[in-house]
Amino acid sequence: VRQILLLAHRVPVGGAFTLNDLAGGGGRMDEVARVVSTAFTLSNDLRRDVELTILFSAEPPPRARRLRLDGRRLKFLNPDERSTAALLKNALVRSAGVDRDVEASPGLVVGPANPAEELRAFVGVPGTLWLTEGGTPLVAADVPGGAVRAVLSDPTDPTPEESELLRSSGVQARSLGRRSLRSSQCVDALNQLADGAEGERPAEAPAGPRSGAN
Ligand SMILES: C[S@@+](CC[C@H](N)C(=O)[O-])C[C@H]1O[C@@H](n2cnc3c(N)ncnc32)[C@H](O)[C@@H]1O
Repeated sequence: VRQILLLAHRVPVGGAFTLNDLAGGGGRMDEVARVVSTAFTLSNDLRRDVELTILFSAEPPPRARRLRLDGRRLKFLNPDERSTAALLKNALVRSAGVDRDVEASPGLVVGPANPAEELRAFVGVPGTLWLTEGGTPLVAADVPGGAVRAVLSDPTDPTPEESELLRSSGVQARSLGRRSLRSSQCVDALNQLADGAEGERPAEAPAGPRSGAN
């Protein structure tokens, strides 16, 4: 399974923005939507082995939202950015003022969250990677058999509090090169590396003669 956590800092958590201004009033929802699209879509199919959590931070914290997308059940995800942004916006609108998780559409669950606690829990799992320009190079050994658990940020870098939490958590900081990439490009690179590592999984041993057969 590939588990990805995206820290989203500026998207209005109540979904109060227009699809005509995703980069401005939408707080870079354009890139968040691109991350979703890149994480799940293939040419003619969806990646079913991906789980993506987006933490939408907000002040005061009770307004913050966690949106979970589960590739096994996901529906209505089209390749274009605008319709993906609409799917996410609708989920945020449905969740506004609601104090529990809601399945806004198949495979897409949204609810209130404490982003710091969520981040701490996510990076507390051994083997979790933090994608950051300053990390050590990401290599295939970091994604054994194609399994990945990684956190990255949207176009705004992690806040000082998030950075401190990440640094003190013992998470493994990994870099995809010296150039600062877009978040969606990072997810693409991660998926490609994991696809390669998955291909290298040892083939299952051919079935031998069944015991007792003759
Ligand atoms: C667009 S970048 C963040 C802003 C960027 N630091 C800047 O100077 O504009 C979005 C996120 O993608 C990830 N990222 C970008 N480039 C990366 C790289 N070369 N290696 C690993 N992660 C990277 C990091 O999580 C980063 O916070």
